Amino acid sequence: MYKAKRSAAQKVRRRVGKYELGRTIGQGTFAKVRFAKNMETGDPVAIKILDKEKVQKHRLIEQIRREICTMKLIQHPNVVHLHEVMGSKTKIFIVLKYAMGGELHDIIATGGRLKEDEARRYFQQLINAVDYCHSRGVYHRDLKLENLLLDTAGNLKVSDFGLSAISEQVKADGLLHTTCGTPNYVAPEVIEDKGYDGALADLWSCGVILFVLLAGYLPFEDENIVSLYNKISGAQFACPSWFSAEANRIIVRILDPNPATRITTSQVLQDQWFKKGYKPPVFDERYHSSFHDVDAAFGDSEEKYVKEAMEEQPTLMNAFELISLNKGLNLDNFFESDKKFKRETRFTSQCAPKEIINRIEEAANLLGFNIEKKNYRMRMENIKAGRKGHLSIATEVFQVAPSLHVVELKKKKGDTLEFQKAVLPNALDAAKGCCL
Ligand code: ADE
Repeated sequence: MYKAKRSAAQKVRRRVGKYELGRTIGQGTFAKVRFAKNMETGDPVAIKILDKEKVQKHRLIEQIRREICTMKLIQHPNVVHLHEVMGSKTKIFIVLKYAMGGELHDIIATGGRLKEDEARRYFQQLINAVDYCHSRGVYHRDLKLENLLLDTAGNLKVSDFGLSAISEQVKADGLLHTTCGTPNYVAPEVIEDKGYDGALADLWSCGVILFVLLAGYLPFEDENIVSLYNKISGAQFACPSWFSAEANRIIVRILDPNPATRITTSQVLQDQWFKKGYKPPVFDERYHSSFHDVDAAFGDSEEKYVKEAMEEQPTLMNAFELISLNKGLNLDNFFESDKKFKRETRFTSQCAPKEIINRIEEAANLLGFNIEKKNYRMRMENIKAGRKGHLSIATEVFQVAPSLHVVELKKKKGDTLEFQKAVLPNALDAAKGCCL
């Protein structure tokens, strides 16, 4: 049996349906977020991965299913779009549009506070998203700077709208109750857990966000959690001197600890400071929504589960390894030297590694070779014995760069002449043919 050695440089790629999973970009109690690529379109996506067992343990499966259905109906230019949902036996995969511009939090953390016009533009987009979702009965409940992402054009994309109620419950009084959440952004009535109005509580968090954008720091901060809660409940904060009087006024109206007297979202939309330079949202992207994927992801029918696969990548060959295979440092004749006596050859190819291997396999089959294949390595042995017994050849595809591969063919047993005359030209044609 052909034994495959795996070098340290060999990578394994994980696929979920048509998506290839990449690095982890976020980690929460219930979910992990991974960067991924749609292999059909090349588009980047973010995939939120939930552990079914964990979710079930907390009796949240039905709630999450409902939230995902609602999310699929939310289509707003300032809300991260939910593309589709997939399920496996153990996991739920929520596929989201990837926000290329990163987190607004990082911009403040590295560059400090924003100019008033810039802060206002983000705040306007935030209020547009919040107002739209609230009008459809969807509340965020965990609005904070870290949930505000940006696209390539610098437009705001609120993430997790309607998906962050994992730690929350609706009690008998019909109001939301919570024990978790980021305390710095949480409204006093949420902390007091007497039940609250989701829209007014979200608006409080928007007020905290506006303060941070203009100040570069949080309005309520304390190392002691009880003192922090007291500051929030009493709305004990001070606007810095550089806030304009109008900005100051709207923040004070939003950060009113009494939800009954707090400004509402529709009143914010009419505020003079808010309205300056306001551009209404442009709904240009239209996605088709269906719930078939949600039913499949949450159902028990195993045939409907998404296919997960581990795919090994070709061994990476770095420049030193490439040069060490040569007799000197002259790469010009690297693939051509000592042609006459060669028992091995290497050539480059820009084709996909799987295609290279498949093409060589097809050619070897036609020549009457037995094949043993493992990922990007293959052993081929002629069924018919030649002058020096059965010709046996090992081949392997190495990756030098994302779209540059070195294909190696080595004679292991049998007649070198047969290898050079009969096999090599066919293998080379086959492997090169796929790029033409
Ligand atoms: N982190 C979490 N969700 C994301 C998304 N949709 N785009 C980019 N980064 C993210």
